[in-house]
Amino acid sequence: MRRFAFNQDLKGMPIEKYDVVIAGGGLAGLYTALNLDKSLSCAVLVKKELMLCNSSLAQGGIAAAVNEQDLFHLRDTIKASAGLANPSLTGFMVEQGPKHIVRLAKMGVPFDTNEQGNWLTTREGAHTRERVLHCGGDATGRLIMQRLTQLALERPNIHILEHHFLTDILTGDDNQVCGAVVYHDQAYKFLETPSLMVAAGGIGSIYKHTTNREGTTGDGIAAAIRAGAQMQHMEFVQFHPTAFFNPRTNQSFFLISEAVRGEGGILRNSEGVAFMQTRHPMKDLAHRDITAREIFLQMQKHNKKHVFLDITSRSKSFLEKRFPTIYNACKDQGIRMEEDPIPVVPVQHYFMGGIKTNSRGQTNIKGLFASGEAACTNVHGANRLASNSLLECLVFGAQCAEAIYNSPHTQVALPPATINQGKKTDTNFGFLADEIREIMQTQGGIVRNKKGLKTALKRLDQIMEKLEPLHINTPAQTEVANMALVARHIIAAALERKNNIGAHYRSDA
Ligand code: SIN
Repeated sequence: MRRFAFNQDLKGMPIEKYDVVIAGGGLAGLYTALNLDKSLSCAVLVKKELMLCNSSLAQGGIAAAVNEQDLFHLRDTIKASAGLANPSLTGFMVEQGPKHIVRLAKMGVPFDTNEQGNWLTTREGAHTRERVLHCGGDATGRLIMQRLTQLALERPNIHILEHHFLTDILTGDDNQVCGAVVYHDQAYKFLETPSLMVAAGGIGSIYKHTTNREGTTGDGIAAAIRAGAQMQHMEFVQFHPTAFFNPRTNQSFFLISEAVRGEGGILRNSEGVAFMQTRHPMKDLAHRDITAREIFLQMQKHNKKHVFLDITSRSKSFLEKRFPTIYNACKDQGIRMEEDPIPVVPVQHYFMGGIKTNSRGQTNIKGLFASGEAACTNVHGANRLASNSLLECLVFGAQCAEAIYNSPHTQVALPPATINQGKKTDTNFGFLADEIREIMQTQGGIVRNKKGLKTALKRLDQIMEKLEPLHINTPAQTEVANMALVARHIIAAALERKNNIGAHYRSDA
């Protein structure tokens, strides 16, 4: 595996210095930046524009036991994780959750309330209590991110660097971070820092069908792998049960929140049978992995490209108010939620694995922190409980901010740069990206098997070998190298894990 994706001598590269660099401007990145001591200069890098992150797409909401009678958030999370989430870290997350919700509300995040001003909550898959808070009905992520963006832009110590692509993480003596090489405006530059946090999100774009934004190519995870960071739970990829499917175009995979089932939506197969009613005691609110797999099996059994989500029991006025984003997106596709069952399919949605961290977001590399979807904090185990992802960003983002403040702020020396210039190439990176997506969709999907995983691993190794000596020179090319690297780790871990657990299911187990 090549140590660096970039191909240019460090000498002569423009240098900028910061106390902290955060790669990623979603909830994990921005909340950490806002929690940092204001004496620390902090650069927040985003690959495109600030609001174009997955956090801003979050619909259903953010889970927190804000109701004093709710003693079951820990139990539900551990159960959903198939028993693999770490109980003490998960206990810490759920216990800290309400405090951060209060903080967000004080920061001006407009959580939905009833007429008495109390927060409204709902249920989603595997929650035994109503504890999912939301904003703007189903615009939770967008409204949280809009407010945090305003606040971050007002902070003199926070420098938002848009269109900055994290290419590589550099380490010096004693396995200590010394900075990051980023690509901006057709050129590389070096950001010197003793503290680098990867909060660059997940891996959806290495699959053909995903709810994630385009360009979610696991760049932060791949840069961390090249720098020697330990990974954990790479086999656990979550598939959301209900993404919209347009039978005419075979496309359009926008998210239909689990909250729709929380408000009475029922899954039906092509014959109108409500198949989850007999599949699990929690019926349509069964755990996400179980529901996604059952939909996949129903589609296979009836040889159909989708199933239906039926919320016609609710009125137009309720649906328009409660789910304005989903209602309008469905309407644009010719579906009226109050009259028509919605065609849905399960698609890639979230990554439980990632950069292994402790409770303070620290990794095995000194000065390297990770948070959000790029990190594996071990609170999701084999299957994340719905709406725990935004919560994780808050709780562990705040932990990172404190750990960064308490870590040394002195710069370590740059390593001597021995960068392989690589061979110039006419390789078609676009074709390789499509092939990786096809491999992951077919062999690394909801149902896997040994033969498929072995074939996938062999081909990914060939792709990595092909990329190894090449002169990679643009973010688009680096993305493909990152996709191959992350995909290889996922497939290798899936091959290694022979038992079925949570989102990892092998038909040969
Ligand atoms: C949803 O609203 O269904 C997605 C929430 C999540 O991924 O936790």
